[in-house]
Amino acid sequence: MKQYISILTAFSIFMIVGCQGNNLVTTELPVLKDVYKNSFMIGTALNGRQISGHDAKTLNLALQQFNTFTAENVLKWERVHPEFEEYKFDLPDRFVELGIKNNIFLVGHTLLWHNQTPDWVFEDAEGNPVTRDVLLQRLKDHIFTVVGRYKGNIKGWDVVNEAFEDDGSMRKTKWSTIIGEDYIEKAFQFAHEADPEAELYYNDFNMWKGKKQAVVNLVENFQVKGIPIHGIGMQGHWGLDYPPMDELETALQTYAATGLKIMITELDIRVLPNPDSDTGADITKDFALQAKLNPYPDALPDSMQTVLADRYAGFFKLLLKYKNSVSRVTFWGVHDGMSWCNHWPVRGRTDYPLIFDRNLQPKPAFYKIISLIE
Ligand code: XIL
Repeated sequence: MKQYISILTAFSIFMIVGCQGNNLVTTELPVLKDVYKNSFMIGTALNGRQISGHDAKTLNLALQQFNTFTAENVLKWERVHPEFEEYKFDLPDRFVELGIKNNIFLVGHTLLWHNQTPDWVFEDAEGNPVTRDVLLQRLKDHIFTVVGRYKGNIKGWDVVNEAFEDDGSMRKTKWSTIIGEDYIEKAFQFAHEADPEAELYYNDFNMWKGKKQAVVNLVENFQVKGIPIHGIGMQGHWGLDYPPMDELETALQTYAATGLKIMITELDIRVLPNPDSDTGADITKDFALQAKLNPYPDALPDSMQTVLADRYAGFFKLLLKYKNSVSRVTFWGVHDGMSWCNHWPVRGRTDYPLIFDRNLQPKPAFYKIISLIE
């Protein structure tokens, strides 16, 4: 690993102090955001414990290494707007203060999704479905209140999350059923009215698969109608054997051709076996824990660390090739211990999908990504 560090003296380097036996060891840790500063922004998701300051160690590492933060959960509808007349802004306010103080590019996730959205949004006082007009009004109020509050400070919004099925058809959700297909453009229009300077993104998983054309059609339709959209977010919940690099490359080319910015928005690479053949990120999946699905409960073997590092390097090499279009790569968490992959799609596993380990130490994948830039 030392050889990676020595070539990096031109870049900003961070000193870390660790323990080896009884000896204190000081090493120099390269800074990812600086190493990649001429390529794209490098980000992480932050959870509530980090935002609130209860997990200061992880927050400090995030502040050292990343120049853009996404709120992992605290801006989702169920968290920020749990009841009709109740908004909870404590943690989102802290998130935004952090960003302002440290000059971090903040991403709001997410304004409209079919998950993590309370039932009341879609129902009247008797529990019956509301009309299109009522739901549009609620969407508008929500977006104006949340985006409006952070106008000028949250610089980019995942406006709509996961609206398409893998075959490109529109996902049947309460949003699409009650409002109709124009709910997506309405959400973007409201967000633009609430903060005309904010970048607005469409975000989804399996973006390298069959939904590509649907996303391109959406963007082109917006461009014709003059509805603002600035970026395409490809959730990067990937594995060791998917997506195939050539299919990912085709997707990058397809999205680059729209002229929009491309972002890898939720990067983690699961090393554990998939309980089914699905490559998506449907958060409602909940498979029973079995020993064979949790092969590394104590530690990831070195051989697997290498496989993971090579996989990360493969993705980053490809993303660097498209750096003129790729504006940001955001990891879905700072270190393995906080990753949602430990609980999804099987609860209670020990996964290793990120580039810092549970003790906040950089993994071989970290150094491998650093080594790609010289
Ligand atoms: C996940 C969070 O990481 C978990 O903490 C939460 O329990 C469920 O949602 N796609 C998305 C993210 O857009 O919001 C999801 O985040 C992961 C899949």
